[in-house]
Amino acid sequence: MTLLSSSATPQLPRIADQAFNAFLNRFGHPPLWLSVAPGRVNLIGEHIDYNDGYVLPVAIDRYTAIAAAPSPDDSTHIVSHGTTDTIRTHDFQCIGQPHWAAYVLGPLLLCREQGLHPGPFTALIISDVPRGAGLSSSAALEVASATLAEVICDRSLGSIEKARLCQRAEHDYAHVPCGIMDQATSVAARANAALLLDCQAETWKTIPFGQSDVCLLIANTNVRHSLADGQYAKRRQQCDQALRAIGASSYRDIDLDALESATLDDIPYKRARHVLGEIARTREAAGALERADWVGLGQLMNESHHSLRDDYQVSCAELDKMASIAWNLGPTRGVFGSRMTGGGFGGCTVSLILSRESAAITQHLQNSYREETGIEAEIFVVEPSDGAQGIRCEPPQKS
Ligand code: GLA
Repeated sequence: MTLLSSSATPQLPRIADQAFNAFLNRFGHPPLWLSVAPGRVNLIGEHIDYNDGYVLPVAIDRYTAIAAAPSPDDSTHIVSHGTTDTIRTHDFQCIGQPHWAAYVLGPLLLCREQGLHPGPFTALIISDVPRGAGLSSSAALEVASATLAEVICDRSLGSIEKARLCQRAEHDYAHVPCGIMDQATSVAARANAALLLDCQAETWKTIPFGQSDVCLLIANTNVRHSLADGQYAKRRQQCDQALRAIGASSYRDIDLDALESATLDDIPYKRARHVLGEIARTREAAGALERADWVGLGQLMNESHHSLRDDYQVSCAELDKMASIAWNLGPTRGVFGSRMTGGGFGGCTVSLILSRESAAITQHLQNSYREETGIEAEIFVVEPSDGAQGIRCEPPQKS
């Protein structure tokens, strides 16, 4: 039985209806609250959000949705749709809970510090953001959880406060020292726009993008190299080390000349060269996007990949392969640019392509990548989408 037609939640993506119906089937009554938060893809500005840089992400039309209602007892019970994993808790503490609980309970615990105290509830989580693919499934879950707390408590955190809260949840409960990009995008993104996020000032502006003859194609290499785990924190340390050696406190205060005149070991030198180059490329890319200069933007994306591969060393053979298959097509066959996106060591590439060529390009990437690696890739077009939303579900009107 479907109580919620898509017209009942016109402002929410379709996955909200799926969450509503899955909740109804599982618990035998409809939910009272729904929250939805998107994943993201970063066009350019990689590994510089924690270095005071600029980033240029869009939220994608892949989401995590949570449906919830007051609990029948004094415990909170959260299920992950399609799995046997459940959280049952009285105090929202993560100890003894499944691994993903940190991304749900962490934000809820931090919401309490902001005066948001949701009472015990029953919830079901559903997501179509690919996991571990560099598309911010973690941030989508954190932001959907904080948004659920807002809608339950009927109080809004400010956008930047909510993004920071979710970032802190990832630091303190998931133990990943991430920057602000993913959470800020999942909170603040707008449909048909990219966000130019200044990670030093923690401010952003939107740049129209999406309703034109180009689109974004994601290619998931379907590999995830295990060395990814410690490498993120290590890159942060190396960047800080380079900055100290240069005698500066922010990458925004120095340029390549300052780097060249400092005495640095090879590794911190390369890390800093990536950061400075990527900050410059991202600012240029924002200008190219504003002018709809697709060739210029694509070229900057390609250069970003080279720098991430050679200087920052966070790519891998499969990402390099996927990017170079796309580069070989080039603008004449509809590919303006292509690069790894997200943390790296596996996951996805993002390509800026001509929309009318998307079927041919998808087929070519799929076949060539399979021939060269033996791996089946997942390839799809994404739409720049709105950030997180939450609603209280009104009971159906009696006629
Ligand atoms: C992960 C982090 C982000 C960012 C990217 C790399 O997605 O969560 O904060 O650092 O890696 O750009």
